[in-house]
Amino acid sequence: MTAAAHVIGWGKYVPVRVLTNEDLASMVDTSDDWIRTRTGIAERRVAVDGETTASMATRAARQALGIAGLNPIQLDLIVVATATPDHSFPATACLVQDALGAAHAAAFDLSAGCSGFIYALSVAADLIACGAYENVLVIGAETLSRITNWGDRATCVLFGDGAGALVLQANGGDGGVLSSVLGADGSGGELLCLPAGGSREPASHRTVTEGRHYIQMKGREVFRFAARIMPQATRQVLERAGLDISDVNLIIPHQANQRIMDTATRALGVSPGMVFSNLERYGNTSAASIPVALCEAVEQGLVHRNDVVVCVGFGAGLTWGAAAIRWSVPLPQEPPSRWTQMWYRINYVYAGLRSWVRRLLRRLLALWTRE
Ligand code: UT7
Repeated sequence: MTAAAHVIGWGKYVPVRVLTNEDLASMVDTSDDWIRTRTGIAERRVAVDGETTASMATRAARQALGIAGLNPIQLDLIVVATATPDHSFPATACLVQDALGAAHAAAFDLSAGCSGFIYALSVAADLIACGAYENVLVIGAETLSRITNWGDRATCVLFGDGAGALVLQANGGDGGVLSSVLGADGSGGELLCLPAGGSREPASHRTVTEGRHYIQMKGREVFRFAARIMPQATRQVLERAGLDISDVNLIIPHQANQRIMDTATRALGVSPGMVFSNLERYGNTSAASIPVALCEAVEQGLVHRNDVVVCVGFGAGLTWGAAAIRWSVPLPQEPPSRWTQMWYRINYVYAGLRSWVRRLLRRLLALWTRE
């Protein structure tokens, strides 16, 4: 029997700093009323100094590994979906691998805008299904506040920071990731992009003064695309799994705009209670939005064993994706005991030490071998 990818751990992290609509109204020409009625957002989280995509991803990952009861050393692969990596390279996934002490894991980043988490989940699930890996950590993490133009009211009211993670494990039992669909339409690339900083427009005095390192978006067109693609991708992923919309217990859509989610809800003919939303508190956290929402849905007791959960997203690229999961882990989960938690902490201290020693040895070796 071929193994499927089962979700055995989940975790999230959002920065403590809250930026409310009122705060934004004192920064740009907007109002709480406009933001709430046009988007459904009331507040968002913003990374504090020193917080990065890798540091938030690591915190979400530790929580997910704790719930899975998995030592990072058992991980075979780490995939981080992000549009805001710590660096162009090395990959943020490698920074997370080092911070976790996941010494046996391969690691890479994946860029598919706000659909990134679904892309990462799909790739990881297929790698597990083909027998290449057994334990895979999939993370969606973003520090969008660092590429947001805080003087542009059309975009700054939308985005927030955070990270969410899932641990997937190969298992021959019923359930797990049942199907996924991914899609792209590169002709819509300019509708949502970060123009400069890549090979086309390397960072220069001009790109900085012209604000080319900030998110640029044609909101209305992205809205139209999203409202069309969300129900379409949901239907496709269910068809691929041999399921009907009536088999679905919960839909976790990308959290971009409440009006987009409501339009998709109507198009699918499901009740609003079936479509999870936490957008009001976090805004659009791009690749982090689906795993953070899924994690919260589980924490709120909205997911049960054998439930079918559909995650569906869209984003820059343009890209879209959906994944149907049959939840196979019994819920609620017992939190790890105090001793287990202490053991995890010791492991992470060891990981930090290991990383430090390896860096030191590398320097010493360089000195030793210098001509
Ligand atoms: O993860 C994918 C990322 N992106 C998205 O999902 C975005 C999808 N698009 C949207 O969510 C919506 O298009 C927005 C929320 C971005 C904008 O809502 P809208 O209803 O499409 O507004 P609009 O762009 O058509 O603008 C309507 C008016 C304009 O004024 P005029 O030209 O009618 O006088 C804007 O200048 O609202 C104005 N406006 C604002 N007013 C107050 C735009 N932003 C703001 C603002 N506060 N923050």
